[in-house]
Amino acid sequence: MKSLTLLAISAVAAKASAEPIRPNHDSAKANANHIFNAIHSAGRQWGSSLNHNGFGFMPVTLSAGTLLYHGGYSKDPPKGLEWLAFEVEHAENFVRVVRHPPIPPKTPDYGEQPPPSPPQKPLGQLETDDGPARDPEGRVRGYLQTYQTTHDVQLLYVDGSGAAKSPIGTLDSQDYVLFPNSSWEWYNIQGEMKRATAMCDMITKWGWAGIMRMEIGYEVIWCDFKSDFLHHESSVRGFIPEDRLKDEDFINTYLWTRAVAERYDGLGGDRVKVDFSSMVSGFFFPINISNTDPERPDLIRLKAATLEHRLDIGAYLRKDFAEPRRFNVNWQGVVDMIVTRFSKRLAAMASTNVSTDVFIGELERAVLSYYEAPSLPDDVTLTADDGKNKTAEAIDRCSTHYLKFTQLSRQNWTLQDDLIHTALSAVMQHICNDLFLMRSLLLQAAPDTSSNAYFINKNVNNDEMDKAVNQSRAIVRNLMDELAWTTWKKPQLCAENEVLMTPMWPFGNSEDYYNPGCVPFNEITEDRRSYWKPHEKRPRDF
Ligand SMILES: *[C@@H]1O[C@H](CO)[C@@H](O)[C@H](O)[C@H]1NC(C)=O
Ligand SMILES: *[C@@H]1O[C@H](CO)[C@@H](O)[C@H](O)[C@H]1NC(C)=O
Ligand SMILES: *[C@@H]1O[C@H](CO)[C@@H](O)[C@H](O)[C@H]1NC(C)=O
Ligand SMILES: *[C@@H]1O[C@H](CO)[C@@H](O)[C@H](O)[C@H]1NC(C)=O
Ligand SMILES: *[C@@H]1O[C@H](CO)[C@@H](O)[C@H](O)[C@H]1NC(C)=O
Ligand SMILES: *[C@@H]1O[C@H](CO)[C@@H](O)[C@H](O)[C@H]1NC(C)=O
Repeated sequence: MKSLTLLAISAVAAKASAEPIRPNHDSAKANANHIFNAIHSAGRQWGSSLNHNGFGFMPVTLSAGTLLYHGGYSKDPPKGLEWLAFEVEHAENFVRVVRHPPIPPKTPDYGEQPPPSPPQKPLGQLETDDGPARDPEGRVRGYLQTYQTTHDVQLLYVDGSGAAKSPIGTLDSQDYVLFPNSSWEWYNIQGEMKRATAMCDMITKWGWAGIMRMEIGYEVIWCDFKSDFLHHESSVRGFIPEDRLKDEDFINTYLWTRAVAERYDGLGGDRVKVDFSSMVSGFFFPINISNTDPERPDLIRLKAATLEHRLDIGAYLRKDFAEPRRFNVNWQGVVDMIVTRFSKRLAAMASTNVSTDVFIGELERAVLSYYEAPSLPDDVTLTADDGKNKTAEAIDRCSTHYLKFTQLSRQNWTLQDDLIHTALSAVMQHICNDLFLMRSLLLQAAPDTSSNAYFINKNVNNDEMDKAVNQSRAIVRNLMDELAWTTWKKPQLCAENEVLMTPMWPFGNSEDYYNPGCVPFNEITEDRRSYWKPHEKRPRDF
């Protein structure tokens, strides 16, 4: 069955274009920032909400013992395919929000909402053959069903906001890449059911259990509730919504939103592990992704690629995902190390609230970590360093630093590991080149430094220096625009020129223990130590 599908698809691709397109390093380089951000946002509600048009597919392992929730009309598990939520509040919404006419229709029609009203996801709404059970007054009771995985199971993760039933691009990877010939509508329940069924037909052939997607909360489309891999832990009878004394609709909505917002930085609880080594992304392929909507030119679309190209990606994915899992490198860990090193630093450098001195300090400390100081006559050096291009050497050190971690498993790398490495290297080279470019601008602006000087002369206070700092700030801002890290869209507790302070030995005053808060850079000095020496007035020992 699988090989038939593959044959059909590759036959189409072969007819349309002689050579199917393949993932390649040029595309990985051209889309480096997108790939970096997709890895950073995988399984995280924040970045996946902002970059909601997903371009990627990743196999993920859902851990044995993970609890999942389902809002249903019955205490019994659904039959066949149904939706599960990662958060209680997400599923509870489907236990409570049940408003039906008192007289049950013979065949319930759930597709009545016309576009553009948003579709209701069929969590708990499609399982019943005869419609939900009602009391004599026609009122429906819901049940919160809890399930637990009995083994580690494989899921297909469709990244971005893949469960957002919207025409602005969130469904492109499903409806235009996995199933480019699909004729279902984006806006109704029937379309969603057909989409889910088609994906389940595809992945159950590989022995996988379901599909993971995100809307307001992560969900699993579980393909078969008869599976031994899912244990029905409990069903708790819900209250009848009409029995409430007061309409509490907004309470449900904010509770749901707040619960899900706790997953901005990740699903947590070791519930999901992503196999980045098997990631298949539209960003790896030479395709056109420009949006044609003049109102949203910023939104990239997989739909913009040609049908032949989309078929090629789908065929590549079906072939690759039938292979065993790899998990060679946790690329998200590498990306996190890079983001946490540079996100706040670049934000501070871009801010006009940060003085020229601090700007130079931020820049200099970032670059000089990688720059070997000139040797003095009495230095013990193993080799003479005359003639070496120290800047080139430092840029190389800077841009390979965080990727060294990944090298241990290099002999086992997949093509995807290699492509991700190419993308992350390109991002690091961009950052490091810009840092050293700014350094050379500032060095040039300091007139009394000789050509081999390596400190920027902060005592120079003139127009040239002012201009060089302004120019450098523009470089930082441009860099940030291009990198487009979602961390910079997140409101921060502290300003760019402050640090959130706790007593971290040897530093910290009493207020940092009793009232931890934001402390301006210039108040975080060597003498900020009162918390650790409450009874003594002694000179610093350390
Ligand atoms: C998809 O549609 C195209 C053109 O509409 C057609 O040529 C092709 O056979 C279809 N492919 C599949 C896999 O059904
Ligand atoms: C990409 O698609 C856009 C919109 O359809 C089009 O204007 C543009 O010329 C295309 N670019 C390439 C390189 O084909
Ligand atoms: C600069 O700091 C002031 C006071 O802390 C703040 O109101 C302002 O928004 C900051 N400006 C920028 C560009 O960050
Ligand atoms: C050293 O390398 C840097 C960065 O590649 C380059 O801009 C510079 O021109 C090189 N300097 C010399 C003297 O070759
Ligand atoms: C490479 O893969 C093999 C087989 O899965 C594994 O035993 C080995 O530890 C891996 N090597 C590295 C360096 O990760
Ligand atoms: C640098 O930028 C500041 C603030 O944007 C501006 O007031 C100043 O005139 C600029 N200096 C030069 C030399 O361009």
